Amino acid sequence: MSKILITGIAGFIGSNLAVRLLEEGHQVVGIDDLSHGLQEQVPEGATFIKQDIRSRDIYSLFEGVDYVFHLAALSSIPDCQRDPVSACDVNTTGTVNVFEASARAGVKKVIFAETSAVYEGIQQWPTPEANVDPHSVYAVGKMAARLFAKPYKEFRNLDSVGVRYFNVYGPRQDYRRSIPPLMSAFILALLRGEKPVIYGDGEKRRDFIYVDDVNDAHLLLMKDDRANNNIYNIGSGTNNSINEIYKMTKELLGTDIEPVHKDNLEAEAQITLADCSALKNLGWQPKMSLEEGIKIQLEYIKKHVL
Ligand SMILES: NC(=O)c1ccc[n+]([C@@H]2O[C@H](COP(=O)([O-])OP(=O)(O)OC[C@H]3O[C@@H](n4cnc5c(N)ncnc54)[C@H](O)[C@@H]3O)[C@@H](O)[C@H]2O)c1
Repeated sequence: MSKILITGIAGFIGSNLAVRLLEEGHQVVGIDDLSHGLQEQVPEGATFIKQDIRSRDIYSLFEGVDYVFHLAALSSIPDCQRDPVSACDVNTTGTVNVFEASARAGVKKVIFAETSAVYEGIQQWPTPEANVDPHSVYAVGKMAARLFAKPYKEFRNLDSVGVRYFNVYGPRQDYRRSIPPLMSAFILALLRGEKPVIYGDGEKRRDFIYVDDVNDAHLLLMKDDRANNNIYNIGSGTNNSINEIYKMTKELLGTDIEPVHKDNLEAEAQITLADCSALKNLGWQPKMSLEEGIKIQLEYIKKHVL
């Protein structure tokens, strides 16, 4: 059993990870400032501390911690475009503060969230980890944060692993943002009998990965020291257009509501598709089919949100 600290525990991925780590018998401590997450999403059994990752008061919370999952961030591309200074403050400086807290406490490894958005300018699909070309404020801030892993390894001997998530979906996905993630936005609108919004013509393609598959990767990367000081794509290795996702969701719900189309969002890539060979070489394999995953998310929203 390890003591594991999760930043952003009240958010989508953090709360799912906390459930999984508790199931595996670990002790879980979570930090979140609740700027976007919901405290009721933090599972029973985890110790919750309302705190901002930018505060130096977090240092004492890391004492005795074995592993850190750093997930707290301003995670919406449009929000970061609107407020680059806050994006940089939370996503870059905040991450450095988490590295600092971890190094001071002698944490064994920090697994930190990066993003497939760093491939915004790359025209190679499937996309391997080697080359990045971030354009949006969000992606540049995340990449800048990741660069600090190097001096923390070189001068403070802090091991870390970067996780480059593609489009993660599943239960507890945030549905309250001004522009919510695709799956929750579609499901919720259709369940309410409203017309969902598609930005652009719906032909953008995204690599969707179910949150339990992401958690399999988290556990593997935590335990396997071959992963240390590397960065890993976490995606399914397949992609679907937004129109295909919409059709699938509509059919599952048995409705014929048509979406409304609005202008493309700023700074969105046309295609994402992960090359996950590096993670697969460590023994990881995604298991969830898209249709089954959407069904589970749908049931969750029916039960817990409506
Ligand atoms: N969900 C995805 O598909 C996806 C894809 C790529 C990268 N990511 C990254 O993965 C991580 C988790 O994503 P998510 O979807 O769970 O996001 P989320 O927005 O649901 O969760 C982030 C959490 O961080 C908290 N937070 C924000 N600022 C904070 C601060 N200053 N101090 C403490 N807590 C703070 C929020 O309250 C929220 O609970 C993020 O770093 C995100 O950028 C997610």
